[in-house]
Amino acid sequence: MHTTEPSLAGIVDAITEANLHGLLRNEKQSPDSGVLTGYSGNKVVGVLQRLARLFVSDATACYLEIGVFQGLTLNSVAYATPTLACFGIDNFAFFDPGKKNLSIVTQRIEALGNSNAHLINADFEDALDNLGAWIGDRKIAVYFVDGPHDYRSQLMCLEFALPYLHERAVIVIDDSNYEHVRQANADFLRTHPDWFLIAQAYTSSHPDNMSAEEGSSAKNGWWNGVNILVRNQKDLGTRIYPPTRRSRSAFEADHLVHPHRMASLVGDSLRLTNEIANKAPLAFARRLLRMVRKISSIRPRLAKFDSMNTNSRELPEFIISKIGQ
Ligand SMILES: C[S@@+](CC[C@H](N)C(=O)[O-])C[C@H]1O[C@@H](n2cnc3c(N)ncnc32)[C@H](O)[C@@H]1O
Repeated sequence: MHTTEPSLAGIVDAITEANLHGLLRNEKQSPDSGVLTGYSGNKVVGVLQRLARLFVSDATACYLEIGVFQGLTLNSVAYATPTLACFGIDNFAFFDPGKKNLSIVTQRIEALGNSNAHLINADFEDALDNLGAWIGDRKIAVYFVDGPHDYRSQLMCLEFALPYLHERAVIVIDDSNYEHVRQANADFLRTHPDWFLIAQAYTSSHPDNMSAEEGSSAKNGWWNGVNILVRNQKDLGTRIYPPTRRSRSAFEADHLVHPHRMASLVGDSLRLTNEIANKAPLAFARRLLRMVRKISSIRPRLAKFDSMNTNSRELPEFIISKIGQ
């Protein structure tokens, strides 16, 4: 089995090229072809393609992404690296109201002739728990994290993948504009000193909050920001971390949400209070009505207490592990 390790200089060149030139062009990926559309910037796609190409002659390597959506990144990388096995995990739980994304991805894999692209239709935690069943003995050389964006999921996407990562793996974390994503990356870097932040790119806001002009520049660029991590590259010298705020109050608020009986309505509650801030009485009334209906539908399943529900009634009173059994 032939293995190669891309040099740090090769990785830096791949990232620099992507920053200068974006997507690796081919007729099927032209923006007008309609074959590939999705939620990623051209520089993000371009960096994945170029990083994956560094590993094409390594038979032990593969590409893995969490968050396939309609297959833009998975197919773009697979098309650029026909000899590299490429895997994508998605449970199609988000951005898929018509339940069409699974068939869109499979159709696109076929349309592009990407026989090296493999879809893992599962929740990322279940998939990473038993990833060997899909990737065999391969190691993840390029790992793209673009699935659920809550703090815990972001951190666990990194932690749970550790046993499967290639010695010279590169991790690209999308949506690093978000503070909680940067915090998860910074926490991972602080607790894993063999990992280094090699590149970071940010845009002014989430593209959905941009003007049309800014949005098109983000689409051609780094979309909603990325952090790129490499392993065992001590030549990088001083360790750096993505910028984070010292205040942890938003993370500390998690403790109020999780044990609250209305936790499942936290999104609705935030939208409701936002209408107050926006001084929009009609929108407020509409949302309030929707919430009243929602509360009556979930009432039979509500936890017993207003807050501080522990869900521990059925847990054992005391348990201790026996030594040597
Ligand atoms: C932003 S989209 C990915 C965009 C994609 N990389 C592209 O090229 O357009 C995020 C995806 O993550 C998936 N996702 C969210 N939570 C997940 C979970 N717990 N397990 C697996 N996939 C998940 C969603 O279904 C969604 O398709």
